[in-house]
Amino acid sequence: MLIKKIAKKDINQVSLIHRDNLDTGVISHMGISFLEKFYETLLKQDNIFTFVAIEDSKIVGFATAACDLKSIPRLIIQNLWQEILISLFKNPFLLYKLIQMPFYPSFKEHGQIGEIFSIAVLPEHQRAGIGTKLIKRCQREFKRYKCKLFQLSVRKKIKSANNFYVKIGLKKKSQGKFLGEDIIFYQGKV
Ligand SMILES: CC(C)(COP(=O)(O)OP(=O)(O)OC[C@H]1O[C@@H](n2cnc3c(N)ncnc32)[C@H](O)[C@@H]1OP(=O)(O)O)[C@@H](O)C(=O)NCCC(=O)NCCS
Repeated sequence: MLIKKIAKKDINQVSLIHRDNLDTGVISHMGISFLEKFYETLLKQDNIFTFVAIEDSKIVGFATAACDLKSIPRLIIQNLWQEILISLFKNPFLLYKLIQMPFYPSFKEHGQIGEIFSIAVLPEHQRAGIGTKLIKRCQREFKRYKCKLFQLSVRKKIKSANNFYVKIGLKKKSQGKFLGEDIIFYQGKV
């Protein structure tokens, strides 16, 4: 299995994995063309990186991380407003969640703390160490950006992901609520 930085040609596969496996987040519901433009926009940012896990020439998982996550809401609004309008036209109920998104606690200023924004492995490839390798690759990248710590958040109800974060040695830092759901914040050393 190979872990490498995302290339433009990988964006469609990553967007599909995101849509189908991270379906609790608002971004997953924005549609595939939104996700493709989203990853295309992130690809151009120096402080944001996506790694893909490849097995037999197929992308089986990915992780996206940033050293300054607070720039993401602005990037989305500036670069994706057309896709946002199209998605809202198709599904007006997304508006409430979208308006709340910039207030997600992870989008606040955190100084030199890295943040893993999303991680997913295809169900048939889970429990084979791929998620662990993706996190380790992000940790190496955080080191390059002189981050001493990194953090991530996950809905409390996603037991598998909470188990995974504890198993790989992350420490529970705090708990909060967002859009009526319990969110757990984890932190790890780089
Ligand atoms: C969370 C996720 C990325 C883990 O990826 P993975 O490649 O399966 O993880 P690993 O194989 O490296 O797992 C390492 C350890 O974490 C724990 N773990 C992983 N998945 C688990 C699960 N479903 N249930 C319980 N423990 C789990 C295990 O202890 C595992 O070690 P083991 O298999 O030797 O027992 C993957 O389950 C996934 O993509 N889930 C769907 C998307 C998601 O929830 N993403 C996170 C949202 S923020």
